[in-house]
Amino acid sequence: MSPVVLAVVSIAFINLQFLQAHGSELLLNCGSNGTVDADGRRWNGDIAPGSNFTLSSPGFAASLTGNSYTDEIFGPVYRSARFFNLTSWYHISVLPGNYCIRLHFFPSTFGNFSANNSVFDVTASGFKLVSKFNVSEEIVWRSSASNSVISAVVKEYFLVIGVRGLQIEFDPSPGSFAFVTAIEVMLTPDNLFNDTVNKVGGAGEQLPLGLSNRGVETMYRLNIGGPALKSSSDQYLHRPWYTDEAFMFSTNAAQIVSNASSIMYVSSNDSLLVPIDVYETARIMGNNMVVDKRFNVSWRFYVHPNFDYLVRLHFCELVYDKPNQRIFKIYINNKTAAENYDVYVRAGGINKAYHEDYFDDLPLQADSLWLQLGPDSMTSASGTDALLNGLEIFKLSKNGNLAYVLGHIDMANQRDSSKGKKKIDLWEEVGIGSASFVVLTGVFLFSWCYIRKKRKAVDKEAPPGWHPLVLHEAMKSTTDARAASKSSLARNASSIGHRMGRRFSIAEIRAATKNFDESLVIGTGGFGKVYKGELGEGTTVAIKRANPLCGQGLKEFETEIEMLSKLRHRHLVAMIGYCEEQKEMILVYEYMAKGTLRSHLYGNGLSPLTWKQRIDACIGAARGLHYLHTGADRGIIHRDVKTTNILLDDNFVAKIADFGLSKTGPTLDQTHVSTAVKGSFGYLDPEYFRRQQLTQKSDVYSFGVVLFEVACARPVIDPTLPKDQINLAEWAMRWQRQRSLEAIMDPRLDGDFSSESLKKFGEIVEKCLADDGRSRPSMGEVLWHLEYVLQLHETYKRNVDSESFGSGELRFADISFSLPHIGEGEEELHSKPSSIREELDT
Ligand SMILES: *[C@@H]1O[C@H](CO)[C@@H](O)[C@H](O)[C@H]1NC(C)=O
Ligand SMILES: *[C@@H]1O[C@H](CO)[C@@H](O)[C@H](O)[C@H]1NC(C)=O
Ligand SMILES: *[C@@H]1O[C@H](CO)[C@@H](O)[C@H](O)[C@H]1NC(C)=O
Repeated sequence: MSPVVLAVVSIAFINLQFLQAHGSELLLNCGSNGTVDADGRRWNGDIAPGSNFTLSSPGFAASLTGNSYTDEIFGPVYRSARFFNLTSWYHISVLPGNYCIRLHFFPSTFGNFSANNSVFDVTASGFKLVSKFNVSEEIVWRSSASNSVISAVVKEYFLVIGVRGLQIEFDPSPGSFAFVTAIEVMLTPDNLFNDTVNKVGGAGEQLPLGLSNRGVETMYRLNIGGPALKSSSDQYLHRPWYTDEAFMFSTNAAQIVSNASSIMYVSSNDSLLVPIDVYETARIMGNNMVVDKRFNVSWRFYVHPNFDYLVRLHFCELVYDKPNQRIFKIYINNKTAAENYDVYVRAGGINKAYHEDYFDDLPLQADSLWLQLGPDSMTSASGTDALLNGLEIFKLSKNGNLAYVLGHIDMANQRDSSKGKKKIDLWEEVGIGSASFVVLTGVFLFSWCYIRKKRKAVDKEAPPGWHPLVLHEAMKSTTDARAASKSSLARNASSIGHRMGRRFSIAEIRAATKNFDESLVIGTGGFGKVYKGELGEGTTVAIKRANPLCGQGLKEFETEIEMLSKLRHRHLVAMIGYCEEQKEMILVYEYMAKGTLRSHLYGNGLSPLTWKQRIDACIGAARGLHYLHTGADRGIIHRDVKTTNILLDDNFVAKIADFGLSKTGPTLDQTHVSTAVKGSFGYLDPEYFRRQQLTQKSDVYSFGVVLFEVACARPVIDPTLPKDQINLAEWAMRWQRQRSLEAIMDPRLDGDFSSESLKKFGEIVEKCLADDGRSRPSMGEVLWHLEYVLQLHETYKRNVDSESFGSGELRFADISFSLPHIGEGEEELHSKPSSIREELDT
């Protein structure tokens, strides 16, 4: 071992000893009174006496109940949590200094609390860490940003703590509550961050960050080209490192190099910052055959807009032992961060590890941070290559704020901050897949309480004349009956009453369901059950009963009834009536004998649908959605399009269900509706959950995923599959891009479909899944093209059949209409086939 390494090791050793001796690490297992070991460390219960912290009010200590899922590393710690219904804080006595603080939020149900329903702020030492935080939203955002399925949120901060010690305050939003599963507080070395860093686009200019009074939040920490490193591999701060391929823009452009031999830190300080393993692997430019490498290796990271970022790049030349072999340019957010960059020269040799920090600020509209390494025009082609070993992205506070509010953007406009509306998923299937999958999807599939925006615009507006869909008016009449009675709608509709459905007595409902007999349950959703029932006159119906404990507000329930009774269409599941006696909130729907579309695709042992039946079902569902989108003057966005919300009747006619809580579309002067993210993981439009801006194109995206599901007959998220296949949309998209969708078609179709129709089908899905909502087709266009798919298939079937009779005469039977290209942007009604026009006219 060389003297340099020895020196480094001994410094690290002393430092660690110092920290341990001074007890500068506090690990709290919230809601528990015992100590547990997890992640190679001992965690203290926050009830345990004699600890160096106090709690302002006890709140509720809760042990995990019901769920069998536990985290691989933090399992023992995640078996309890602390809930607060009042503003409460932990006061932790620590010496002044720089600290790393981690807050763990493991969403689960603890007794009467469901963590998914909590909304709260957290402040620490004057820094706002989160605001209107909802753990489900955060999970959805993170899963999307990192392209993986995440089960718990761990937020990591670096804060300067003064003489008054550390106070972590939890402040529930009105009507809600706060929770925390675990807290880590660790002293860090003073040199974790350098205050002066390179400014991106500043041509070598250095900038003071003023970190002594700014907070830092870790956004990403990636071992570029290498494996994930568990938190236990960092003895000092237990920082986990993740892999980078999910963030690469084009994986082909880069290749991996590795070298585990005697790597040394250039600066001994770095030994505490980064495990040496991070430097043992790197990505370089791919395609060695190309001498003239004129492309960038690019990564894209979703981040929070309107914050400052510190981007830390870790370098170590692993291959060349002389300079001028790899010279490149570094771009951050498409601006030059460094030019003429030669890692060998900067490090002073091969196998020498160091990092370099860059600063950039992100504008209000930007939701992603780009990192690109590419050729430097100043250098000769032979030296063109790039290299990167590790990457960290830190967000810096602005005016004491680190919080980015994901979903509850409109809290300010909210007039009655009553608890959000809860919703029952009609026919949601019980017990899907493995235990852990149920827990994970539990977060996504079952909607959480979200704060509902009561839109001023809705209340003011009284559209002229009569509209077939008067959703917003119906809502208005419940929220403000007096105003409604003056409106034009009220004049038209009051004579027939706002409710078109039939009013049932609770006695009738009990008779229909044999007093809510469990054997009649045909579906269970997040907030109640659906029963099969038979009315006195012999009609079979589906009866959705809200669990009274869930506290769905009466007002919301009434709104739902009024909305539903206005929506009538052959491809929407019809509401027959309702019952609101004795605090019951019950909706009665037409019974859909064949159940969900999903149950006919996989997992239920039902005989497979033919290709024609599948396309028919898609066309039916597309009609229903098209009607929702265009039938009202502002249209309705379904928000939760998935195969369990597409139901089939006796004759396999598909109808859309569960549109009761859909949002009205944007008004003319808006392009989107801002809203809490809601929907089902695997179907969610990535643009929607990054921006929380809802448009009808989000439904189009989800419908695209449905189309893939119909073709491939597998779940949209299947964690039992290899990593690159877990997410159906991504996996199938890769095949579609190579025009090989056929290879992953449901084998039970047994090739009984026309490849022409499949080709067209694939093109439609590809359009629906476009990254940018604006380039997705409208539902009307999707419908039009699906009809064409059906025609292609039927023509093919006719030809196949006639061939089998030995006559080739009908072979060239032609398609009766020609097609426009799938357009981008708004639909034009005049170009629609007559069937669509009918939909609109009725
Ligand atoms: C701690 O937990 C044990 C076992 O659950 C219990 O018997 C004891 O009373 C608890 N102590 C306190 C202080 O809550
Ligand atoms: C690499 O990325 C930068 C910034 O986005 C861009 O200006 C440059 O043209 C790209 N270079 C190549 C070769 O694509
Ligand atoms: C930055 O570059 C990437 C990749 O070349 C591109 O997709 C992105 O739109 C660019 N961003 C801006 C703000 O120009």
